[in-house]
This record gives sequence, structure tokens and C-alpha cells, in this order.
Amino acid sequence: MADPGIQIEIEYEAAPRGAEQAVSCAVKAVLEAEGAAGRYPCVILTDDETIHRCNRDFRGVDRPTDVLSFPADEGEALLTPPDGFLGDIMISVPTAGRQAESLGHSTVREIAFLTVHGMLHLLGYDHIAAEDEELMLSRQRVIMAEVEPNLIEYAEENCGREFSMNESLISEMINKALEAREKAYVPYSGFRVGACLLSSSGKFYLGCNIENAAYSPTNCAERTAVFKAVSEGETSFEALAIASDSDYFTYPCGVCRQVLCEFCADSMPVLCANKDGEHILTTLGALLPMAFSKEDLVK
Ligand code: THU
Repeated sequence: MADPGIQIEIEYEAAPRGAEQAVSCAVKAVLEAEGAAGRYPCVILTDDETIHRCNRDFRGVDRPTDVLSFPADEGEALLTPPDGFLGDIMISVPTAGRQAESLGHSTVREIAFLTVHGMLHLLGYDHIAAEDEELMLSRQRVIMAEVEPNLIEYAEENCGREFSMNESLISEMINKALEAREKAYVPYSGFRVGACLLSSSGKFYLGCNIENAAYSPTNCAERTAVFKAVSEGETSFEALAIASDSDYFTYPCGVCRQVLCEFCADSMPVLCANKDGEHILTTLGALLPMAFSKEDLVK
């Protein structure tokens, strides 16, 4: 089934930077972990008053709360909704902020956690009986371990500075990576990948994966782009985008991370996109912490 994409509605104006990315990677991580590709929710980031009203009107509980889930279907259809729409998740940003403070982590991390929690409810989990609760908590822990390195704040902590990319450059680079994917030579895996690498001189270098009958000489899209650029005299880079045909975000493989680390700073932004151009923004340093690099070549 085609992935209709996640719907995210940000009603709360002061939602923190990175909240949208946190929601989308939390949703994707749950869908992937639960084998629920092709399904999607609508996630609404709102305020205490709105969630209070919904909590009172739909659940008879007269106070604000952190997260509410409204499954679109019931019974069997809950797990396999005919149109893929799982239902709505409503999150109060101010309540998430207060909870984050008392737990000693960021609001963005709390929003990711509440999204995972709400998603698991939409997929039929609950925490009424102790054993159900134990199962739900353990799924949450496993999924959050996947989500955390994808949060923008993790990448920023890792590279020691706040970073951002302008939206038009983001879409330009992702579109170029999607376009580069068209040239992929993939008779063996059928998995097309495209990359767009921006050099410090302002040029885009595009790459695709190029497979081989002997399998191991296969070159990934990112390395194709790096090698094209370096062979043209470029050795300094500003950003990378990669994309494939997958519903999920595509990340550079370990070998490509190592090759990139030869030429690119830890703080270089990396856009990992899916086939629809949805993406997460991270950094090379977050993708390859404690890398072996030229500085380590000392006896
Ligand atoms: N691939 C890439 O091009 N980039 C990555 O970072 C991940 C993997 C390619 C290699 C191979 O042609 C196909 O995807 C399946 O592994």
C-alpha cells in the first residue's frame, strides 16, 4: 500500500525546535518496530486547554493530560485499518514541557516519548493490567532507544553547536537526491539510493548506488557522490542528503560514514529522507561518534 504519510498538526505556536522531527521519527520507529508499514496517524501538538476539553468530553476526566489517543477503528480493524489511517494522537506541549523538566530531559524528548506511547495505544497496546503494562513499557524502551539518536538535540549535543538548514536548501538537496536515485544500477537488490553532496565551493555532486555481479564491489550512492567530488578537486563539504524508495528514512551505511568522515566535519548536516522526501536532519558526528580518523593515525 502507498504510504499516505504522517499528518502532523502544530496548533501550539511555541512548540520547540525539532518537535516535528521528533514526532515523525517516533511515528516511523513505532511503525517499523511493530511491522506496521503503510499505516499512519494524525499527531496534533496542542495546549493544555484543548487537551483538557478533549479529556473531559471524550473520557469524562476533568483535567489536562499529556497525551490522548483516538483510534480510528475498533476490534480487528484497529490493527489493519482499511485505509491505513490509525487515528489521532493529541499531545499537550506545555504538559510535555513540565514533565520533561521534572524528569530532567528535554521537551523534544518528552514529545517523542508521548508520540511513541500514543502510537502503541493506536496499535492496540494498553496498560490497564500489570502484564500488559510491562509489555507496553518494554516496547517503549526499545523504540525510544531507536528514536533518541534521531532527535536534533542529540546531533547538536554531539557536534557541540546548534545548527539549522534553510528549508529551501533542504528541499532542493532532497529533490536532487531523489532525482539521483533514478540512475541507480541495482539489478541485484532492486534498492535504489540517491545522494546529493554540497561542496564548500557551492556545487552539488550527485551519486547513485552501482551494484556488481560479484556483490562486494558495489558502491553506495554516498560514496559515488564523494568520489565524484574529490576526483574533481573538492575536499570540503557542507551538507549531504540521501534518499531511496523506502517508506522509512535511509541512513548512510557504516562504510559511507567512514568515507564521509575523511572529508567532512562532525557538525556537517546530514538529511536522511524517505521516498516522499520526509526526512530527519542529523549530523555526521551523531551518525559516527568516536570515529577513527586521520588524527588517530599516531603511534
Ligand atoms: N546503499 C546505498 O547506496 N547507500 C547506503 O548507505 C545504504 C545501502 C545501497 C547499496 C546496495 O546497492 C543497496 O543499497 C542495498 O544494500
